[in-house]
Amino acid sequence: MFLTRSIPVRTAEELAGMRRAGRVVGEMHERIREAIRPGVTTEALDRIGRDVLERRGATSNFLGYHGYPAVICASPNDVVVHGIPSEDVILAEGDVVSIDCGAIVDGWHGDAAFTAGVGEIGPQERALIAVADAALAAAIDAMVDGGRLGDIGAAVQTVVESSGFAVVRDYTGHGIGRAMHEDPAVHNTGRAGTGTRLRSGNVLAIEPMVSTGTDETVVLADGWSVLTADGSWSAHTEHTVAVTDDGPEVLTVLS
Ligand code: MF3
Ligand code: CO
Repeated sequence: MFLTRSIPVRTAEELAGMRRAGRVVGEMHERIREAIRPGVTTEALDRIGRDVLERRGATSNFLGYHGYPAVICASPNDVVVHGIPSEDVILAEGDVVSIDCGAIVDGWHGDAAFTAGVGEIGPQERALIAVADAALAAAIDAMVDGGRLGDIGAAVQTVVESSGFAVVRDYTGHGIGRAMHEDPAVHNTGRAGTGTRLRSGNVLAIEPMVSTGTDETVVLADGWSVLTADGSWSAHTEHTVAVTDDGPEVLTVLS
């Protein structure tokens, strides 16, 4: 109990800054989502992200992060997270692709991801995306004053495992604010009623990663792309979320 560090509490002014960053991420999502179709390259999707950042006077928290070469991550099919956009990655009908975007405005960070189908997708792929979306929604619901960090992981784990999918445990969500990655780690498994107390003004990036098969991952020789160890397809969803007196507030949305 004495070793549990509390999560930073943002003032109303600080939250307003984070909302501005989140709004840019929400716009990147909307523009990129519209462009996802068979034949598009993930490089083209990255260019859309760069265009939004430039127009909004925002900068990228991904570009140059430990040498990362793009402003989005684009992770198709068995790529769980951190897929590098490329002219050689051409999305095809039936694929699923996870798009992760971030932005910095006035020093404040936003970070969010979604998974979409490419053209018509099969029933298993639709279920995968629906479960990842439902897991994120359940985790967001847990972002209430007086709740616990463990409630978030428990919510994700319950939704994912009760649907017969697996939670990828090798990566986590995180605190976010003046840096993209701050303490604490936000695990996608856990026990409700345990862990650090959540307070109004806390902001966390929550990011369930779901596999149709194994929860084990491998990293490609490019040093970034994280794949499921058995080639199962996977989905990733993420929002930057604030705890407020009026309940959870998703910051990474356009409206
Ligand atoms: N946005 C990712 C996360 O959710 C991190 C991206 S790593 C980068 O934590 F190198 F692409 F920036
Ligand atoms: Co994140």
